[in-house]
Amino acid sequence: RGKRAFIAGVADDNGYGWAIAKALAAAGAEILVGTWVPALNIFETSLRRGKFDESRKLPDGSLMEIVKVYPLDAVYDSPEDVPEDVKTNKRYAGSSNWTVKEAAELVKKEYGSIDILVHSLANGPEVTKPLLETSRSGYLAAISASSYSFVSLLKHFLPIMNPGGASISLTYIASERTIPGYGGGMSSAKAALESDTKVLAFEAGRKGKIRVNTISAGPLGSRAAKAIGFIEKMIEYSYVNAPLQKELLADEVGNTAAFLVSPLASAITGSTVYVDNGLNTMGLAV
Ligand code: NAI
Repeated sequence: RGKRAFIAGVADDNGYGWAIAKALAAAGAEILVGTWVPALNIFETSLRRGKFDESRKLPDGSLMEIVKVYPLDAVYDSPEDVPEDVKTNKRYAGSSNWTVKEAAELVKKEYGSIDILVHSLANGPEVTKPLLETSRSGYLAAISASSYSFVSLLKHFLPIMNPGGASISLTYIASERTIPGYGGGMSSAKAALESDTKVLAFEAGRKGKIRVNTISAGPLGSRAAKAIGFIEKMIEYSYVNAPLQKELLADEVGNTAAFLVSPLASAITGSTVYVDNGLNTMGLAV
């Protein structure tokens, strides 16, 4: 049997989640995705109308099949946690079972188990504010959506992950070196995510023989990145200063993810793997 992957954080064909889905599909995996509830309608409609068909193309010419799209809001663990105004919000009211616990239960009911869990999501409402101007609630919201969301996903999916399976998340160098502009507690959230990668690698390794790694990716002009505001500058900076002076393709991150969740990486866990044309190794802009 081929492997089954659940990829949280796919809502269009521009981001890292989509590229990872493609790389896993090309390697023969069955693809389930978790899509943020407010983005669900437009994503499903676009998918159905063939808007993504060009970017669904796999190396062998076939089209990536997304077997099922699950609504998900990784900020909520179970229905008791959902505030009334969200519950009754019209973007949410049309969907059901989108808390992390319910999504995992639904996947279990419909597919039994998974082999691969991918976390490709982040959110920081105050990302454009410097840390010194970030509110407590903005900071905690960034950690909730971008770091604890991974703890929660792994916690709830671990019981249905087959031993030998693996998980992947996406992080950014702003966790360890100052990137002015990546604010709102997002740098803190990525630092937490990387630290948690080590602790969770230990816990999930011992508990379920599951590997946990994170990819520190270079800049990509995704929807989320454009919301931060200086992504074009970062891409240009990387192009000028990285050891490899080429555009960083989302597919390069996708391919690394496919390697890391495959048996080829069977001894790699708890690692932060850089996929950034080597930019992280530079100490001086040239
Ligand atoms: P993206 O916009 O394709 O992906 C972010 C996804 O998170 C979106 O689909 C959004 O709907 C979803 N999301 C936001 N809040 C959510 C919630 N509460 N529950 C469920 N889903 C939610 O953008 P991108 O850039 O591909 O982001 C994927 C990951 O890559 C993120 O962790 C990001 O921090 C990371 N990354 C991105 C870099 C870049 O330059 N684009 C660089 C390094 C890391």
